[in-house]
Amino acid sequence: MRPEIFLTRRVPDLVRVELERLFELRRHDSERPPTRAALLDRAAGMDGLVTTATDRVDGELFDAAGPQLRVVANYAVGVDNIDLEEARRRGVVIANTPGVLTAATAELTIALVLALSRRVAEGDRLIRRGDPWILAPTFMLATGLEGRTLGIVGLGRIGAEVARLAAGLGMNVVYSSRGPKDGVKWSFLPLAELLAEAHVVSLHCPLTPETHHLIGAPELGAMRREGLLVNVARGPIVDEEALVDALKGGEIAGAALDVFEHEPEVHPGLLGLENVVLVPHLGSATYEAREGMGMLCVEALRAVLLEGRLPPNAVTVE
Ligand code: NAP
Ligand code: GLV
Repeated sequence: MRPEIFLTRRVPDLVRVELERLFELRRHDSERPPTRAALLDRAAGMDGLVTTATDRVDGELFDAAGPQLRVVANYAVGVDNIDLEEARRRGVVIANTPGVLTAATAELTIALVLALSRRVAEGDRLIRRGDPWILAPTFMLATGLEGRTLGIVGLGRIGAEVARLAAGLGMNVVYSSRGPKDGVKWSFLPLAELLAEAHVVSLHCPLTPETHHLIGAPELGAMRREGLLVNVARGPIVDEEALVDALKGGEIAGAALDVFEHEPEVHPGLLGLENVVLVPHLGSATYEAREGMGMLCVEALRAVLLEGRLPPNAVTVE
């Protein structure tokens, strides 16, 4: 008997075909998630699961799946949806999708920085509303990025790629992480100093208990008044209520968000603000990245279930 897998979402054909070739594949063939009850029900008896960042993977799901469950491949690099300690306790291997989405997510970050700083989304809305306009020396001015400082919070794979691309636009880069990194050409700053110095603050750390609301009212207050905040990491890293207050009160000049505190809900206070760019969690949404992510999931399932080894993309508890 081939191992049985439950796939919680529709995936690119290339990935589905490979899963079908190797495993007995059961799937929820939709872009919408299964209900929690359906997820628990369909996980029962499975040897492996392929989950996404919006599926909660915890003791309840492991119980529902049963003791034969050996691997969960998460179709994301972030693993904040997974109780890693519980998985370790039960001997369930967790795998994620590092690297293959770095370029896509960094590109989206730069797209947001440009859209926000050069008022692209605002201008698009103005034209679609039918507002009268004509080219004028003082019309819809913005500040250019060249010579401005980008502050990266979390200089990992994606943060480093954003830094590289931003340097190509002539930006100066500084970063904060839990400590300075060896062999990095950008200057390390403690978070408080980075917030005070950067014209654009871009978040690229994982969501952990330590980074939950890392950016709240005091941190937004510490930013420059002309500062811009970009979040392509995870919504709850930013206190969205405090962000709305800071934007309305002019404490910062704008925000661009790919992720939201209560995703897919968006704080209603953000929706009416012109100095905000909102996109629906598109960071890794390229054909290349999503196929690469799927193939990393396949490789993780193959390693554990068919070859009895740990995959290189197994996640370990820190
Ligand atoms: P990564 O290579 O592990 O980078 C994360 C970096 O964050 C690490 O280098 C780490 O450096 C730093 N970090 C950890 N805790 C921190 C803290 N408390 N304060 C400041 N920095 C901290 O991961 P990645 O592949 O770049 O992905 C980063 C995150 O992006 C993922 O966890 C995911 O949530 C998000 N993401 C979002 C999308 C999207 O579609 N929007 C797509 C992909 C990824 P130190 O250990 O030195 O602190
Ligand atoms: C997407 O958000 C990911 O973590 O891969």
